[in-house]
Amino acid sequence: MNKNDDFTMVYQDSAAGLTLLLLHGFPLSSAMWEPQIEGLGEIVRVIAPDLRGLGESDSAEPPYSLATLADDCAALLDALTIDDPVVVCGMSMGGYLAFEFYRRYPERVAALILTATRAGADSEIVKKGRDIAAADVHANGVAPLAGRMAQKLFAPAVHEEDPDLVTFVTEMMADSSINGVRGCLAAMRDRPDSTPDLAAIAVPTLVVHGDQDLIINSAEAEAMADTIPGAALALFEGVGHMVNLEAPEAFNDVVQTFLQMNFGDEDVNEE
Ligand code: MLT
Repeated sequence: MNKNDDFTMVYQDSAAGLTLLLLHGFPLSSAMWEPQIEGLGEIVRVIAPDLRGLGESDSAEPPYSLATLADDCAALLDALTIDDPVVVCGMSMGGYLAFEFYRRYPERVAALILTATRAGADSEIVKKGRDIAAADVHANGVAPLAGRMAQKLFAPAVHEEDPDLVTFVTEMMADSSINGVRGCLAAMRDRPDSTPDLAAIAVPTLVVHGDQDLIINSAEAEAMADTIPGAALALFEGVGHMVNLEAPEAFNDVVQTFLQMNFGDEDVNEE
């Protein structure tokens, strides 16, 4: 638990060594990183915060901005006295936040892992959709939004093959606070276009995506990986938006290989 002014942030933490900061998607929580905390927590120190208003962190009044969320994460690292640069792994909204964190704190970033995310900003139509969703959540609570999102988060086959996973993620979303959901919708709506920044990214970068992602087309991930100097791309077949939960072992394997290639055995423990 980290107390910063009037804001208390809850986070999960694993071991010592190179730090991997896991930034969850919308409207999820650090619980979405369960297989990574378990699997990768053995080889690096994994920190997985619940972003403002989501999971068990405080639900401050909306709207939020990506700048505020990035500052929350920097304050968490400060509170944990983690001064060395960290590997920032962001999923979807967490990827938008990873770009913002890198813009604001480039010296704190050792590498980027961009998972099921995009560099572009929202179109005007998508911005309007965010406002409609925020009004709906204000009036009707989070459950209807969680139900609608659950239809799009997974590769189509997952609904039949792994209904427990769909239930786990749907309940995680439905548990989000109304403030947190509205706040993060505003943060995503107002985020800047990160596309012009891609060619200047100067840290090792891994792009991970599923070819059945119904929220962000894999072509966007391919274009992103083509533009970021030296970026690696891991494209998983038959996998949707929740790539780290739909293919947890394959996801952990590519991340482990990426970490070992870029940081060697001194910083990354053997399993
Ligand atoms: C997410 O998965 O974090 C969101 O669906 C991303 C978005 O709405 O742009």
